[in-house]
Amino acid sequence: MTLAPKSKSKAALSSLVDRMQDLVSGDLASVEHLLATRAASPISIIPDLSGYIVSAGGERLRPLITLISAHAVGKATPATHALAAAVEFIHTATLLHDDVVDESALRRGKPAAKTIWGNKPSILVGDFRFARAFNLLVETNSLDILNRLATASTIIAEGEVRQLAAMATRDLPTEEYLAIVEAKTGALFEAAAETGALSAGGDAHAPALATYGKNLGLAFQIIDDALDYGGTTSVIGKLVGDDFREGKITLPVIIARRRGSDEDRAFWDRALNPATQEDSDLAHAVHLIRATGAAEATVTEAEAYAGLAKGALRTLPASPYRDALEDLADFCVSRAY
Ligand code: IPE
Ligand code: IPE
Ligand code: MG
Ligand code: MG
Repeated sequence: MTLAPKSKSKAALSSLVDRMQDLVSGDLASVEHLLATRAASPISIIPDLSGYIVSAGGERLRPLITLISAHAVGKATPATHALAAAVEFIHTATLLHDDVVDESALRRGKPAAKTIWGNKPSILVGDFRFARAFNLLVETNSLDILNRLATASTIIAEGEVRQLAAMATRDLPTEEYLAIVEAKTGALFEAAAETGALSAGGDAHAPALATYGKNLGLAFQIIDDALDYGGTTSVIGKLVGDDFREGKITLPVIIARRRGSDEDRAFWDRALNPATQEDSDLAHAVHLIRATGAAEATVTEAEAYAGLAKGALRTLPASPYRDALEDLADFCVSRAY
């Protein structure tokens, strides 16, 4: 298996996203309206930078999960729309901050906001978008929902800081990697699905959807980490090798390092230190990840989480919404094929 992009699966993913968008098109229009209008501010750099990242694309995966979870177990309401918009506000806030932290030049197939406006405006507009998310959450009139998204936001921040602290650890345990991924990515997917259910009166199904979201987020991020070594910029909309250049230890590296020779481990230790990394190192890293079977093993790990996500849906009533959530778990993984 290679992680080279296959246009077929990219098309399949976008057709699934299209199908998800069709399922909730009316709701999504309300959410897009909130995304556009709630970025308003007399300080023009705020709507300018916000408008840039919002219109740069992105699949709106998290708000779609909120809306579809709501429909799967109840009735979407204006609170669901405010919530879904808040989820995307939080997501984009983390992206603005993340690209500064990761020194990433590209996002959503375009120069990252920080590449255009610089680090400081990116961080501050990220703060604005975080804060706006909480205005929207108050509009749900649910302290429970507000609390869950506040908690998710703190967990994301903890995950990002924990990852920063892990940079210096050469032989990062898989458990630590997974804990970081669960926090930085799983927490928002989890809250998006769980609170979608709560906003629609489907409280009995909220725990199942929380489990679905958490495991989907894990699968999604693990595949994202695989694509950093095997995707292409045109497919992922980000520069391939960003994690490597930054010295971030992700699952493909953990596995390749563990399965490699002493010489390989010496390579990883030198190359993952940005101070001693050389230009040709990325190509060798990609080679080692393929040669040791780490690419495949990474995808297998993601498949396991996608399986757990799908398993959690079993108790939900059968519907096109449940089907879409199930397909999403498969397609998150198929991004790697
Ligand atoms: C990017 O998420 C951040 C990760 C968790 C890897 P997405 O790939 O969902 O980003 P957009 O919203 O579609 O740009
Ligand atoms: C994504 O982190 C999670 C958050 C933004 C909180 P990454 O740094 O791994 O994701 P990309 O590759 O920049 O999208
Ligand atoms: Mg990043
Ligand atoms: Mg990051």
